[in-house]
Amino acid sequence: MADAEVGDDSYRDDPTVARLEALAAEVMGKEAALLVLSGTMGNLVAMLSQVRNGGAVLVDEHAHIFRLESGNLAGVCGITARPFRAGARAAEDVFHEESVFANSRMHRPADMLCLENTHNFAGGRCLPVEVTATLADAARARGMHVHIDGARIFNAAVALGTTAAELVAPADTITFCLSKGLGAPVGSLLCGPVSVIEEARRWRQMVGGGMRQAGVFAAAGLVALQGGWDQLTEDHANAKTLAVALNGTGLDIDPAAVETNIVYVRIPFERIEAGALVSRLIAAGVIVNPPKGDRLRFVLHRDVSRSDMDEAIRRIRGVLD
Ligand SMILES: Cc1ncc(COP(=O)(O)O)c(C=O)c1O
Repeated sequence: MADAEVGDDSYRDDPTVARLEALAAEVMGKEAALLVLSGTMGNLVAMLSQVRNGGAVLVDEHAHIFRLESGNLAGVCGITARPFRAGARAAEDVFHEESVFANSRMHRPADMLCLENTHNFAGGRCLPVEVTATLADAARARGMHVHIDGARIFNAAVALGTTAAELVAPADTITFCLSKGLGAPVGSLLCGPVSVIEEARRWRQMVGGGMRQAGVFAAAGLVALQGGWDQLTEDHANAKTLAVALNGTGLDIDPAAVETNIVYVRIPFERIEAGALVSRLIAAGVIVNPPKGDRLRFVLHRDVSRSDMDEAIRRIRGVLD
């Protein structure tokens, strides 16, 4: 990062950013890529550049795009979300008269299908390429674009034993994050056709994402993208170990449901209140997100080694005891 060759990326004058964008496009098998500050910004400019104001997108009711991006679909894009049932994978559950509104005088037809891989809220669940391809075909047949929120797409690729490019091939655009499992400090990329990426570049400028000297963090992104994915395999193994170790401690957990690096547990309220448990875990040195209802999310990543994991399990058990 200290040695990165830098410039003003608003003028497309930063060679390190240009290298990162070219590599990202190649890795994803898309024509072009755009560096943005975050996954949220990548999803946002993907919408802005493909769905016009007043349009509609089909999205899982538990998707990050729908639930956790501060309402930007409505607030920034002027887009209506038409949520489908969490985890739905069959075309008839996603595309039906009430979501598509193909021939309605009262509604615009839906413009885009958004998928999430891996699915954060579903516990890091992977979407196999066959499912993506079937849903993408059905979307195209109805004139829709297809976008994948692939914040953790490499986790899915590793878990499914395939490549990210294969998983995203059925989609027009994909956002992925450098700063989650891949371990870079900042940044995400939107990848897709040149025409969409050029449009997204203008929208990025509009939302304040044009950057000078971005090569400083793009350099870390290059390391992350060239670094191989062995670490992710280890993170997945650690997640499984955690799930197996916590099973039977009184927390409600299904180790078989852990596919990647995210472990959700349910806390039986009759035994302990979720907020109190989190406070005690943090006091014991195990940092965990605030509870959502009765659910806690643990996420494994490159800064948690196998021996850290064993130590964390020991401390969590201590708190539960
Ligand atoms: C599935 C998914 N999409 C998008 C994002 C947003 O990424 P960022 O936090 O970089 O805006 C996240 C963040 O956790 C995520 O889990």
